[in-house]
Parts: sequence; structure tokens; C-alpha cells
Amino acid sequence: MPVSANPARFKFLGSITLSSSESDVEHKVIIPLLQALGYHDGDWKTQVTIGKVKLDFLVQSHPSTLHALPYLVIEAKSPRKDLSRNLWQLKSYLRETGAALGLLTNGYQFHLLYHYDGEISAIASYSKETLIENFSLFYILCSKETCLKFGDAIHQSQQQVHSNFLSHIATAFENQDMFELFKRRNPSGAAVSPERNFKETTPARSPIERETASPSSDRVQRKGMVITVFNNKGGVGKTTMTINLAAALSKLGKRVLLIDVDAQANLTMGLGIDPLEDVEDQGKKDIVHLLTESRTLLPSTIISKTWGDVELDIVPSNIRLIKEEAFLIQAVDGEYALRKKLRDYRHDYDYIFIDPPPSFGKFNEIALMAASAILIPTQLAPYPIRALEFVIGRAIEVQRDNPLPILGIAVSMYDKKVKILHRQMAEKIKEIVRGFPTYGNIGLFPEETWIPQLKIVSSIPEKGYPLCYAEFDSSLIRADKEAAQDAFNCYLKMAQHLVLLMEQGN
Ligand SMILES: Nc1ncnc2c1ncn2[C@@H]1O[C@H](COP(=O)(O)OP(=O)(O)OP(=O)(O)O)[C@@H](O)[C@H]1O
Ligand SMILES: [Mg+2]
Repeated sequence: MPVSANPARFKFLGSITLSSSESDVEHKVIIPLLQALGYHDGDWKTQVTIGKVKLDFLVQSHPSTLHALPYLVIEAKSPRKDLSRNLWQLKSYLRETGAALGLLTNGYQFHLLYHYDGEISAIASYSKETLIENFSLFYILCSKETCLKFGDAIHQSQQQVHSNFLSHIATAFENQDMFELFKRRNPSGAAVSPERNFKETTPARSPIERETASPSSDRVQRKGMVITVFNNKGGVGKTTMTINLAAALSKLGKRVLLIDVDAQANLTMGLGIDPLEDVEDQGKKDIVHLLTESRTLLPSTIISKTWGDVELDIVPSNIRLIKEEAFLIQAVDGEYALRKKLRDYRHDYDYIFIDPPPSFGKFNEIALMAASAILIPTQLAPYPIRALEFVIGRAIEVQRDNPLPILGIAVSMYDKKVKILHRQMAEKIKEIVRGFPTYGNIGLFPEETWIPQLKIVSSIPEKGYPLCYAEFDSSLIRADKEAAQDAFNCYLKMAQHLVLLMEQGN
């Protein structure tokens, strides 16, 4: 039965301080919490080694029987630890054990995750106070009662599967004994309805996911914002930002397409696609076909890639693109080559990002003409900042009648060590922007979205996945995984800021 939110029942939550240890969290918070959830000694195991991992707490349904099923994994941290840096660890424990729920806590914060078949989503994040307020909900998910129902339902559905399977075998091999044997071992085997048993306790999607998830088939609801990530200064982090911002938006439930319009193909390779081996040698189409052949339509040039819960569509590039510049300069309406190809497909996506080359050549013009808005990445350094005047001027020039909206200036490679200098640079940017009254107010993205300059960010592209996927790379040490997660969190904040801008724009 759900427990009422009577604060007196949760006095144990006040029993630790910032100087408490991880062991204090285990004994003074987690064990009393498990007891409040209806578990008794023996229902959980501590310091359990499963495969390659050692778990702080493992709660199984029917732990004493053969069909014990991992249900809840709990990882404790000391109160001073920042939990966001340890979520990857809990996720790997969930995948290793197959448990349905994971709880990460330092005694002050409680992060609850749901896992099914390798996919993991955040259910809730509580402070001590909000945990008490929401305890009924927490109880429905984590209590012993639910754990047992979950175990029964899974066990029964397994019996159903075996029953059907053996029934097929028995028929095919005319060996009825086999089926009879199974029925004798599992008298209830053929008459189980797992849905009936488990319906009320199946975890729902988190409110955040519900709010941000896009309908998968409803094209008309998508806005199809085409954003060209633009700065003619080379090496300011355009491509890195495009990849990781897109991954962050995908994590927020958005459908995202990336278009590589740079013959260097850094975006393509940064997402693990080799322009020769994976595309050209296999007779697949790429950006060159899309821009130069009128019969080639967007879908035939797309490669879809998935990394865990991140899904991205990519139009790859190829070094051959350089050779086509002259052709596109001469072609009638060459600058509209991409814009025309996107027209019928914009509403398949929430965001389409175009990654152009740094120079002010034809491909740059093509990328700008296809855009519905521009995002300007910059480093907080003198030369990139000086380039901003040209960049903004170009945005005005390219569509003179109707200058492209500038979503804002996003900072990459931010060095916290020279914070004061960077603040001065940020002021300089604001001053430059004021020189363009056409735009009124081009915003510098807020400081929490500034991407730190980190070695891990520069080493990940050659691995061919977005930063968020570093947690699954067994060749990386823990410190690198944490650094990658820290950097990706900034991209997530940038993505949230972008979504907010879109909503305000509407
Ligand atoms: N936050 C970061 N921390 C450290 N290195 C970074 C960061 N962001 C990008 N880099 C590195 O800086 C270099 C330039 O980045 P990137 O290729 O994204 O820039 P770009 O503007 O797309 O370059 P180009 O103008 O050549 O297209 C790369 O080596 C990249 O790995
Ligand atoms: Mg680039």
C-alpha cells in the first residue's frame, strides 16, 4: 500500500551531513529507504559482483528462488559528490545486470532511471524534500510490492513463450511428451496474462520526455527549422558544435538531420562515416549527388545512425565536392541547389543543421540560402571575434530583402582559467552586435551553455560518435568519460536554450 508523505517517517533523510561518507549514505539513508519501501534484510545484497561491475546494492525479485530477477540497482556516493558525473556508471550497471530500475544517490539528491533492453531513460530527479513530497509515486515504482509483481509478470510471460515454443516443437516433431513435460513443471504455464498482472506498475515516460518528445509520424507538427552553423573563421568549433548540439537535441526527443556541405567531410567522419569506404565504394549517394543532380532527392542521400538513445540522419560529404564548385557557380540558381532539395522534407525534422566550410565560397552561399536561421559559433578570442562583423554582414547581404535571423552567438572552447579575459571578450561581442541595428538584439548564449575547451572534446571526433556516447567506450578511462559527460551537459544546456528560443520565436 502506498506510504503517505508524513515527514516524520523520513527522519533518516536528515541524518547525514556534507562531511558524511559513502558508507554513511548506505547505512543511514539507503537501508532505511529500502525498509520504507517494504524490503527486509535478505531482500537486497550489497557489494555484489556481476560480470565486470561491483554494485553497492542489488534488489532482486524472489532472491531465494531460481528465477530471481534483478529489479533495482542502487549506487551510493558521498554527499560531496556531483551525481551528474556518475550517471554513466549507474547506466553501465543497469545494462550489465539487466535490472529495470537504477537509483543514484548521495543522500541529498536521488536520480531514478528506467532501463529496458539497453535503452535507459531518466524517470525522476528528487531532492530530499521532493522525494518526501513524491514518495507515493516513488513507492509505486520501487517498493517490494511492485518488485514482486514485476518478477511474477516476467516469469509468467517467459512461461508463456516457452509454452508456445514447445507447442510448435511438439507439433513439428510429433513429440507430444515434450510439451506435456513442460506443462507438468509449470501447471499454470499456458494460461498466463502478464499484461493483466503488470499494467498498473509499468513506469510511465518522464514528464520531461513527454513534453519534449516529438510525434514520430505527424509531419505537420514539425517546424523544420533549417540552421546554418556559420562563421567564416576556420577552426572555431562549428563542426564539433553541430554534431554535439544535434545529439543533445535528439536526446530531448527532437528529429534532427545534419548536412555536411564541407569537402573536408569533418562532420561526416566525426559521426563515424568514412566518405569513401562507407559511401562512395558502396555506390551510395552523398552531398555531391544532392547538389548537382536534379533527379537525386534528399532521402536517397541520408544515412541514419543511432548511438543509444541518440538518432541522427546525416547527408555525408566527400572531397569530390571541391571539383563541383565551378559547376555550381555557373549553374542557373546554383545558390538555391540545397534550398530546393530541402523544401519537401523540412517537416520531417524539427531541426536541420547545415555545416558549411569556413571560406566565403559558393558552398557557403548555398548553405546560407538554404537556411531559415543562422547560429554563429565563436571562440572568445580576438580573431574569431573580429570575424563576427564579417559574418553578420554576410548574413545581411546574402538575403538582402529579408536578412536571415541570427539565433545567437554560441561560445566554443571556453577556457575557465582566463575567465576575466573572456568576460571582456563577451562585452566586445555585445559591442559589435550593437553595430547591426537591423538585428536589434543578437544574443550571446548564456554562460552555462559555453562549451569548455577540453582535450576529450578534441579527441572524440576521430572515434566517430557524439560526446554523450563516450560512456559506452570501454577504451576510455573513467576521468575521460566524466569529462565527456561534463562537456556534453553544456551542449544539452545549449540545446535547451535553442528550444526555448524557438518557442519564444513562435
Ligand atoms: N570544446 C572543445 N575543446 C577542445 N577542442 C575542441 C573543442 N571544440 C572543437 N575542438 C577542436 O578544435 C578543432 C576545430 O574544431 P572544428 O573542426 O569543430 O571547427 P570548425 O569551425 O568546424 O573548423 P573548420 O573551419 O575547419 O570547418 C578540432 O580539432 C576540434 O576537435
Ligand atoms: Mg568544420
